[in-house]
Amino acid sequence: MVISPVEPIVQDARNIQGGMWIPSLLEGINEQEMQQLGSKLTAKDIYDVNNSSLKDAIVHFNGGCTSEIISPKGLLLTNHHCGYGAIQSHSSIENDYLKNGFWAKSFKEELANPNMTVTFIKRIDDVTSEVFAGVSDTMDEVSKMKLINQNINKVTANATKETWQKANVKSFYKGNQYLLFITEVYKDIRLVGAPPTAIGKFGADTDNWMWPRHTGDFSMFRIYADANNRPAVYSKENVPYTPNHYLPISLDGVEEGDFTLVFGFPGRTNEYLPAVGIDQIVNVLNPAKIEIRENALKIVDSYMRKNEAVKIKYASKFASIANYWKKWIGENQGIKKSNAIEKKRELEKEFSKIVIEKDLEGYKTLLPDFKQLYKEIESVSLARDYWVEVVYRNVELLGISFRMFQVEQAYLRGGEQGFEKSREATLAKLKGIFKNYSAEVDKPVFEKLVSLYAKKTPKEFVPSVMKDTSFTKITNNIYTNSKITSFEGVKELLSGSGKEVSQKLNADIGYQFGKELHTTFYNKIEPKFQQLNMQISAVQKKYMKALMEVFPTKRFFPDANGTLRVTYGQVRGYKPRDAVYYEPVSYLEGVIEKYVPDDYEFDVPQKLQDLYKSKDYGQYGENGKMAVNFLGTNHTTGGNSGSPTIDAYGNLIGLNFDRVWEGTMSDMNYDPAICRNIMVDIRYVLFIIDKYAGAKNLIDEMTLVHPKK
Ligand code: ARG
Ligand code: ASP
Repeated sequence: MVISPVEPIVQDARNIQGGMWIPSLLEGINEQEMQQLGSKLTAKDIYDVNNSSLKDAIVHFNGGCTSEIISPKGLLLTNHHCGYGAIQSHSSIENDYLKNGFWAKSFKEELANPNMTVTFIKRIDDVTSEVFAGVSDTMDEVSKMKLINQNINKVTANATKETWQKANVKSFYKGNQYLLFITEVYKDIRLVGAPPTAIGKFGADTDNWMWPRHTGDFSMFRIYADANNRPAVYSKENVPYTPNHYLPISLDGVEEGDFTLVFGFPGRTNEYLPAVGIDQIVNVLNPAKIEIRENALKIVDSYMRKNEAVKIKYASKFASIANYWKKWIGENQGIKKSNAIEKKRELEKEFSKIVIEKDLEGYKTLLPDFKQLYKEIESVSLARDYWVEVVYRNVELLGISFRMFQVEQAYLRGGEQGFEKSREATLAKLKGIFKNYSAEVDKPVFEKLVSLYAKKTPKEFVPSVMKDTSFTKITNNIYTNSKITSFEGVKELLSGSGKEVSQKLNADIGYQFGKELHTTFYNKIEPKFQQLNMQISAVQKKYMKALMEVFPTKRFFPDANGTLRVTYGQVRGYKPRDAVYYEPVSYLEGVIEKYVPDDYEFDVPQKLQDLYKSKDYGQYGENGKMAVNFLGTNHTTGGNSGSPTIDAYGNLIGLNFDRVWEGTMSDMNYDPAICRNIMVDIRYVLFIIDKYAGAKNLIDEMTLVHPKK
């Protein structure tokens, strides 16, 4: 199906924001909307296959974030929280780059990151008709999916590309459109610079998902290429990459109403769920996940506060568990406050009315089908979330037992050979896990979360080991007698032949307990979930198509799926609640207002305090003030972190890194009144590099411009 936008232009462009658009399809309506918002760019300035365009400077960063090229020598800018793992991996007590920051003063000092990759998008082609070749409505879902996957493999194999390029096909509009991406993956990415955590993560978890914000959330890397400027694994001989385009940087700053374009790789959204689907997330699944994480976080936090070593070991794990815990709370509040479920019901009423009026036969059962299927999947999804959250994410001993379970499965399926391969890989992973493990912390988490699991999982999915509910006794027994609470113990269990290992594992009390949970998951939960989920996806695919037909003047953008997107908007404050208005720009004085000496989250480096006192902002300040963060109406989600914010002329003005509390529901319901993305003002980034760190060498590589003057 070819999707063509047909909405007439709304007079006040401010009303029609929201949406993550495909860069190769901007001509026409998106281009006009952008210009109404103040843009001077054409669709071709943004995406062009034959000439250099903005897209050549936008790079998928290590699979999860976005980054952009800001110099002719392949200098990359992304968030501090995106480079966090790399910065941490180079840190030690003697050279603590997380604490003190890191700045390479020459190419030679840049640090290699063996497993890091970045990906460029060279070309995007619509391959929908090839993917649907031979597919008919009379086929059942399983055969349909099989044929579609075969066709996708054919398209990928036959794609026109250079030998160093890759091809992959992604589904859009819930499986109604398929696009082919030709990409280039670079593998020699080196760390160039990072501010101290007290700047790059200022405000930490307390300020996370919040406005007003004052975080200098950036770090810098460089892409290296072979002598032909092509991808190559790390080598001393590699040279800095020469880009087709890099972003000039504007020193003119932002004010309310300025055009903003965010260009990046949003991960996942769910904008076309039926009301019953949102209802289930908000009222059943999110509360369960929030409760589990809240209990785990409370326990871990109490240990982190009284023990310095535990604090270091758990810092990164704690931050990632806390990130989505906090997001789900905000999401639930936002959905309720904005009446999102009610609004969806209204829309569905109208949908049904039109379907009946126009007698659109194939669409009449969609909403009742959703209702029935969501009812059926509810207990399965809930059980699945308990397993994922308790076993996979929060109780480390259970997560470890799961990895060992996979080793045993490899033996049962692949014999001694399969076992050998799996053991090696698992031991390497477990070594890393145990480096940051404390059984003392994990034990109370186990007891608490396992009791919750037993009490709250739908009855039919409770594993039989949980019928005995004396969890204090069980916990003590496991953490005293199981070998899987230490790396030594695990190594011992995993030594010997596959057969011996299997016997030893099954005699271990901790393993026995975990295995019961994993078998319940694989035998009872997962097959049922997959089967129902496939049916829901089939209905959702039809519903998506139906929505576009039934509401031909409404705008529909495809849900985020980790592919390159453009979202445009303006710099705007918002009104979070009655009688309160949030200004769209924060300043360095706000950092000083929040300053708590020696605090874990709100300490401020002495040098930054001094720069504030002397107002030594150089060309980066404006009227004696230093801007730090600002808000926009760009529709973003996880994965957009590190995305460039681009002005009306194609220059870099900011670095996207978060959203505001009231608007975290934008993944299901974008509301232009309260959904805002949060960006670092690029002048703050330059100020920190130049005035704080003295890394003038980096500033000299960049192109600084004054488009407004
Ligand atoms: N909330 C942001 C995002 O979803 C930033 C998270 C990093 N910061 C933190 N304090 N955990 O990724
Ligand atoms: N902080 C998110 C990220 O890391 C962005 C967001 O969810 O708004 O991609």
